[in-house]
Amino acid sequence: MELNENNTLGEWVSTFAGVSQVFIRNNLDFCCGGSKSLKDACESSGINIEELMKDLKEAAAGKTAPKWNLLGIDQVVDDILEIFHKKHRDDLQMLIPLAKKVETVHASSADCPKGLADFLETLQFELESHMQKEEQILFPMIKSGRGMMAEGPIQVMMHEHISHIENLAKLKELAKNYILPNGACGSWTALYKGVENLEKEIKEHIATENNILFPKVLNG
Ligand SMILES: [Fe+2]
Ligand SMILES: [Fe+2]
Repeated sequence: MELNENNTLGEWVSTFAGVSQVFIRNNLDFCCGGSKSLKDACESSGINIEELMKDLKEAAAGKTAPKWNLLGIDQVVDDILEIFHKKHRDDLQMLIPLAKKVETVHASSADCPKGLADFLETLQFELESHMQKEEQILFPMIKSGRGMMAEGPIQVMMHEHISHIENLAKLKELAKNYILPNGACGSWTALYKGVENLEKEIKEHIATENNILFPKVLNG
């Protein structure tokens, strides 16, 4: 499938795996700002569109994302639960003790990511509460065919998504933009890689709900 500068950031992310990393690198918001065209997003951020297109094509080559647009609503919900909800829970369960360990062992280092473990716990708490609302209220409504009545809950979820994105910016700052100090140990390396991947996956999760699932539900 060929996409161009008039396609939205959301369409790029839902069509090709890998392009989300390019958007994250360039600080382009494809989750809550996913309805912007590539052209408009580049213009408002002062990004050279030709160079970005080159990076996007490279990242997209041969890597097609799950065909969200071709799936039925129930299947999109099931995939979100499996690919994102379950994965975030597993990842956070692994990352929080790892962050505690790195902060304890390297407490005297100037590069120590102080506060990262506590903030991962805050993120876990907020994400858990959000995912439970989706799992217990919104998704059952959608699966029982009452999605057209879900405008209120969807607005609430989209509002919470904005706060998750703000949390991710803070997380990246606490993890020193994922730049490892020279000679970083295996735990430190695994921690930053894991947190960076968590950021990417939460953004993809939000983009899939905001740009694929919610419009499908509300437009019938
Ligand atoms: Fe979700
Ligand atoms: Fe959500």
